Order: sequence, then C-alpha cells, then structure tokens
Amino acid sequence: MSDPAIEVRGLRKSYGDFEAVRGIDFEVRSGEVFGLLGPNGAGKTTTVEILEGYRERSAGDVTVLGLDPGKRSRAFRAQVGIVLQSTGIYRHIRVREAVAHFASLYPHPRDVDEVIALTGLHGKEGALARTLSGGQLRRLDLALALIGDPELIFLDEPTTGFDPAARRAAWETIRSLKQLGKTVLLTTHYLDEAQELADRVAIIKDGRIAIEGAPGELGATVGTAPYMIAYRSGNGSLVEHRTDDPTTLLHELTGAALARGHKLESLTVTRPTLEDVYLELTAEESEEPAPAEAPAPAQEPAPARGRRRRGRR
Ligand SMILES: Nc1ncnc2c1ncn2[C@@H]1O[C@H](COP(=O)(O)OP(=O)(O)OP(=O)(O)O)[C@@H](O)[C@H]1O
Ligand SMILES: [Mg+2]
Repeated sequence: MSDPAIEVRGLRKSYGDFEAVRGIDFEVRSGEVFGLLGPNGAGKTTTVEILEGYRERSAGDVTVLGLDPGKRSRAFRAQVGIVLQSTGIYRHIRVREAVAHFASLYPHPRDVDEVIALTGLHGKEGALARTLSGGQLRRLDLALALIGDPELIFLDEPTTGFDPAARRAAWETIRSLKQLGKTVLLTTHYLDEAQELADRVAIIKDGRIAIEGAPGELGATVGTAPYMIAYRSGNGSLVEHRTDDPTTLLHELTGAALARGHKLESLTVTRPTLEDVYLELTAEESEEPAPAEAPAPAQEPAPARGRRRRGRR
C-alpha cells in the first residue's frame, strides 16, 4: 500500500495561553477525500493551515506527501493546491489573468480555459475580481487551487456562498479530482456535502477528534441503539423506537399490530445520518448551563444529552 498522503501525530497548536488544537492524530490515505467537520472554532482551519505550511505547530509530527509542510519547500508548493477559508486575492486582476498567472507558477499546470470552464467561470474571464459575486470569487479560489494540477488539494469550506447548482457543480469537480487519483482534504459545515463526497470524516470538537470514520458508518458507533423505527399510531402521533436489533423489534411491532388488525402507518427504519451523529456529538456547545436549583423530578426519564431522536427500548 502506498504511504498516506497526510500523517498527523499528536498535533497541538496554542495561540498565547489558548490551546486551539489539543493532540490530534489522523491519516489521509492517498486518493481519498477526507472531511474535517466541527463547530465554529473547533480547530479545523488551524489544523488545515498547519498542513498547508501557513501556520507553525506548537507540538506534534506532521507529514504531507512525505514532506514537512513547515519547511515550505518548493517541491511541497508544487504538489499542493489550496483554497483558504478567507482569501486575499488581489481585487484588481481579471479572472483569466489570475488563473494564467497561477498557472505560470507551477511546473505542469492544467489548461487555463479548461479550469475556467470546470469551475463555471466561463463568460467571466475578463471580469475584475472585485466585480465578482461572493460565490463567483469562491469559484476563482477553486480555479487557482486546481490550476497547478496538484496531487493534494486542501479545501477549507470551498462551497460556502455557493448557490445550490454551483454546489452540485463543485461536488462534480471534487469527484472528478478523486477519479484522477488526487487526494482531497475538505472542511465543510454542509453535512450533506461531507456525506456525498468524503470517504472518511473526522469530527473535531474543542481541538480534539471526537469521532472518525466513514460517514455512513459513524452512526453505528455513537449511542447505544443505531437504528430507529418510526410509525404513526392510530391517533396520528409519531411513535419512535431506538434499537440495535431492528429485525426482532420490527417483527414484534408488526406482529402485535397485525394481531390487533392494525397497520403501522408511515413505517420507516432508518439509521442516524451524519447530521444526527454530528449534532449528538457536538450538542453540549449549545446547552444552557444547569440551573442552580434542580427542578422537580420528571415522570419520564430525561433524554440522553444531545440526543435528538429518542425511543424507549
Ligand atoms: N491567529 C489566531 N490567534 C488567536 N486565536 C486564534 C487564531 N486563529 C484561530 N484562533 C482561535 O483558535 C480556535 C480555532 O480556530 P479555527 O479557525 O481553527 O476554527 P475552525 O474550526 O476553522 O472554525 P470555523 O468553522 O469557524 O472556520 C478558535 O477559538 C479561534 O478563535
Ligand atoms: Mg475555519
């Protein structure tokens, strides 16, 4: 097996007294799309910019394409493409000029017009960057990241500000990069985007990785009962059960309903989506502090912290 494209061990980053990244380990395999997810301030950009060579780490080992990004070597620069979370692209350059200029900085660039077309900027070749809309500027960022035909592409919230069609187009571009065998490290707040594109994701919270795995598999590792069975009762109210054994529970529920001559209306069996897992793992952020005086005990047991869906099984 080829070496991983990115290896991160014990990565830490402090800004003064504040430790933004608190011991992170992960690997991104060559040819993989890897998603870094997490709330605002979790440490995603800090991590990504250390891997890009834009920020210095406080501790830990980082290898990107076999190189130390902290050294900012020319070989490293030629092999990576970068979409920063916020860019400082000069405002007085025209779209085609910008793409062509970046092309001239790389040893084996892609074709300028091809990249302009790929990122949906045709018709805007002559426009000054400062006249582009937010989404169009973001497309230009993506074009500049791709023009050098890099092996590894860092995309820090690449589709923020994109309209739905542009987002789908960007997804196609990212898929085509994967088909070309490129490696992509992506951060996003759009969980459908991560679910669609990423082979694996890591959810970062407070500078640590809370969970890591394939987006479709994470649900099975969070909480005790990964499946949810839902239906509408006779009076139309929604009944939800969580279980780790949907076969048996379905058998019991449908058996009991049939014995009563009923149907389970709108019956569904689902697994938690990436969004469910994300919200469950990151829920504490938005929770109110506990009241000073404990309220009277409720009849029902309190739902698990942060759990959006709950059943009684
Ligand atoms: N240059 C800096 N100086 C001081 N603190 C910083 C600096 N950059 C980031 N931080 C702090 O580090 C923490 C992590 O920031 P970071 O930008 O990595 O978060 P993020 O996960 O990318 O968030 P977002 O989703 O909002 O982009 C935040 O609390 C932020 O305030
Ligand atoms: Mg960020």
